[in-house]
Amino acid sequence: MRSSVSLVIITLGAASMFACSPAKPVAAAQPAFVESTPTAVATPALKLPVSLNAVMVSLVDHASEPLWLDAYDPPSTQARWREAEYNAYQMAVSGKLIQLAGAGPNDADWVADPEWKTFADEMSAAGMDALQAAQIKNVQALNDAGDRLVASCESCHKKFKPGLTSMGLYKSTSYPPSK
Ligand code: HEC
Repeated sequence: MRSSVSLVIITLGAASMFACSPAKPVAAAQPAFVESTPTAVATPALKLPVSLNAVMVSLVDHASEPLWLDAYDPPSTQARWREAEYNAYQMAVSGKLIQLAGAGPNDADWVADPEWKTFADEMSAAGMDALQAAQIKNVQALNDAGDRLVASCESCHKKFKPGLTSMGLYKSTSYPPSK
């Protein structure tokens, strides 16, 4: 009698061990996943193919200048409001894009500075204001967005822009072309 009870216990024990075993591969997979995480983190950071100086001139300045002009001389056609909308998208995106370093000698140091991120986020937020203004064709709102935008450029330039540009790229004196 006694031995048959222990046999039942042994059998149950074996059964529960067996019941547990399907869970084992999952438990074993866990450390493997954790181990692979540092490899993923070590992937090289995304880097822009050109300098931040070039991004400033060709994208940031190129898209912002017409927006300021639009606030003074409001778009009168659907096509020009659409242009304003696209320029605003470019500002909103470039505020995030310039948080990636490019090929300029100072880029990596700049993007690593928390203040750089604050100024760049502010520029992006001003771009979103401009986007909303362009979408509802509200000139006063576009003007307010323009004020917020210029403040973001100036605050960042005051802190980070050296006297001479690192790659020697300056804003074109003839941009935007006269209509
Ligand atoms: C987060 C910081 C930051 C923000 C925001 C920013 N800039 Fe810049 N900008 C710089 C830095 C730094 C340089 C110099 C780049 C270099 O020397 O490599 C520069 C250079 C430039 C240049 C080329 C130099 C020149 O004077 O012609 C222009 C044009 C320019 N920025 C326009 C703008 C405009 C317009 C805005 C706002 C809509 C703006 N930037 C917002 C940091 C910023």
